[in-house]
Amino acid sequence: MSSSRIKAFYRLTIAERRQRLADALGLSAAEVEALNAADALPLEVADIMVENAVGTFALPFGVALNFQVNGRDHVIPMVVEEPSVLAAASNPAAVARPGGGLAAEDLTPGLCRRGAGPRDVEVRLVRTANHDTMVVVHVLLDTGDAMGANAVNSLVEGLAPLVAEIAGGTPCLRILSNLADRRLARAAVRIPFAALARDGMDGPEVAERMLWAYEFAANDPYRAATHNKGIMNGIDALAIATGNDWRAIEAGAHAYAARGGAYGSLSTWEIEDGHLVGAIELPMAVSTVGPLVQSHPRVRLALRILNVASARELAAIMAAVGLASNLGAMRALATEGIQKGHMALHARAVSHAAGARGAEAEELRQRLLAAGEVKIDRARELLRALESRS
Ligand code: MEV
Repeated sequence: MSSSRIKAFYRLTIAERRQRLADALGLSAAEVEALNAADALPLEVADIMVENAVGTFALPFGVALNFQVNGRDHVIPMVVEEPSVLAAASNPAAVARPGGGLAAEDLTPGLCRRGAGPRDVEVRLVRTANHDTMVVVHVLLDTGDAMGANAVNSLVEGLAPLVAEIAGGTPCLRILSNLADRRLARAAVRIPFAALARDGMDGPEVAERMLWAYEFAANDPYRAATHNKGIMNGIDALAIATGNDWRAIEAGAHAYAARGGAYGSLSTWEIEDGHLVGAIELPMAVSTVGPLVQSHPRVRLALRILNVASARELAAIMAAVGLASNLGAMRALATEGIQKGHMALHARAVSHAAGARGAEAEELRQRLLAAGEVKIDRARELLRALESRS
């Protein structure tokens, strides 16, 4: 695609957004239809996916715009329940453009170059509180474009008797580790101060305040948990849209954030020569192949929108989206705070929940914001007043 910037996208109707997206990405009528279908996931597919299925569950499917990663524009498909996540990724992606966008890579040292397959075996000793020592055998497997849980688990279950024979012990657990620290993804961004100015604060001041925000996260686990949650907002939303196991990604990310013994920030930020420079590195076990891609129409569409050729490329974009989400959150927190934006969106949901529709819903939203109390009871009260007036 030529550009992931689509002007005033959020102001368009859903039908207009679909059309603009189809034009920008050259989507076929059948692909647009996959967005249109009321039922995103056919029941028979849900039944194959999990046991005891009784229905399906829908969430908003949106796109984050403005992303430029390694010089290429990408539209980022996201599935998420939280307001602001799409805007909190799209806005910073635009801020990053003057500095050349985001740079990203996946780091799978020594793996993949020879195609998927087993690569190495490592042995660790783990001492337990009761002084028994466990022998832990790591089998390093390049899983190619698959997430790899099944491949790893099958392999280690198959190898366990042999390991037991060699070690002379009793095999116990045979399972992958989600701390996939040989399968890292990394992204970086370099933003000129001028692009950071906001809310009457100039660029250098915003940059300095963002640096404090980073130092806080780097040195305090309470803040780091929320700082990293903001990073995972974007990563999880992209993971869900592309049919990936976001719990595995979450587990790997947080374990990696604590690898030094104390839980800390997944990203780093510094000031360098009039620029704010950010970087992120985290495990990223993702897949672009498998039965879900074949059977789930919207997962297929999400991968088509994202336009990546491999799991390695998806992993790199995941890291870039995480870093952009972090940039957006830190910039908002360091300036006007996040509640103004959050409440503006939340008010839409509250006015809808109170029963308002169409022009009345917008009127009620404005009144809720003016009242400074975005609550359902207040919304019902204001709606009654609106209705009795008309
Ligand atoms: C909210 O979903 C995410 C933030 O709390 C992240 C952060 O505090 O950095 C805004």
